[in-house]
Amino acid sequence: MTQQTPEPIRFAYWVPNVSGGLVISKIPQRTSWDADYNRELARIAERAGFDYALTQVRFTAGYGAEYQHESVAFSHALLAATERLKVIAAILPGPWNPTLAAKQVATISQLTGGRIAVNIVSGWFSGEFRAIGEPWLDHDERYRRSEEFIRALRGIWTEDAFTYRGDFYRYTDYALKPKPAEPLPEIFQGGSSRAARDMAARVSDWYFTNGNTPENIRVQVDDVRQKAAAEGRSVKIGVNAFVIARDTEDEARAVLQAIIDQADPEAVRAFGHEVKNAGAASPEGEGNWAKSSFEDLVQYNDGFRSNLIGTPDQIAERILALKDAGADLALLGFLHFQEEVRYFGEQVIPRVRTLEAARAERRAAA
Ligand SMILES: Cc1cc2nc3c(=O)[nH]c(=O)nc-3n(C[C@H](O)[C@H](O)[C@H](O)COP(=O)(O)O)c2cc1C
Repeated sequence: MTQQTPEPIRFAYWVPNVSGGLVISKIPQRTSWDADYNRELARIAERAGFDYALTQVRFTAGYGAEYQHESVAFSHALLAATERLKVIAAILPGPWNPTLAAKQVATISQLTGGRIAVNIVSGWFSGEFRAIGEPWLDHDERYRRSEEFIRALRGIWTEDAFTYRGDFYRYTDYALKPKPAEPLPEIFQGGSSRAARDMAARVSDWYFTNGNTPENIRVQVDDVRQKAAAEGRSVKIGVNAFVIARDTEDEARAVLQAIIDQADPEAVRAFGHEVKNAGAASPEGEGNWAKSSFEDLVQYNDGFRSNLIGTPDQIAERILALKDAGADLALLGFLHFQEEVRYFGEQVIPRVRTLEAARAERRAAA
């Protein structure tokens, strides 16, 4: 069932808009969560060949991440600092309702020529919900609310008199003006459980999943694509990975080992406890982190599992393997963001494009 897209694979990077970087480790990181660092990073990424930047939404510290800039405002700052990059603002139903999200994002879309997108997340941290006085729904209920949220967003953005009767949200002849600029903001979602996949098939443009092997990615892709096809839809796939690209494989492996050796065990265990608890109500037990080991959790979206760790040649080959498994986009985290995004743009992306071109030639000749 899996079909490799003939399109070039797209690259996104995680915006470090929360403190502590992308690993739960005390290893020194030359990454900052502040605005100046992030604006410069966005410009570097755009020049390096990245298409998207993904912000994170957090209202309270969880596994470190003591400071967190708000995702929609931060996305706008990055858009103002760049020309082509698209920025995906993370939005959490509960704290946001679709009315506010649709209006905010429509305005940013107008201000930036349609370069904003959204990532609708469903929540994993009950402590965060408790801290801000939000009810904590069980796993599949969170997705039922997120699905209504996405249906409402789309309806508000596309209809002139939007009427909707859901269990969570209601609208009567609502007319949002102005609408977002064209193209309409793309709707991404995070999550891997059955509820997440079913929601992706029905309403999302993009399905983001945690890091994994190409074999395991393929199983998810087939499931999402089959279900989407049954709805007459197609869904694109983004896969998380933590990149450690170095001139030799030994160097890259040594960095991985150092990250894990200096992991903050208490914070990793606390995070593991939260996410496994968050997924416990997922009836089939296939949610993100259901099978994560201690080492996997040191990168909090299982980014080591995708194994983009080695030389630029090895990493380019493995990106093609993810593409073969059905990935349309690689979502990437780094230890020292600015310098490593630049290195990735110089050393890895051109190799990926060369491999893609060679495959296209082979296909044409066949
Ligand atoms: C790429 C990606 C980005 C995510 N970003 C956030 C985020 O910024 N904030 C958040 O609270 N959850 C985020 N999540 C968590 C998801 O919304 C979801 O709660 C989690 O993946 C568990 O889903 P599951 O049990 O359905 O697999 C993200 C997930 C993925 C895969």
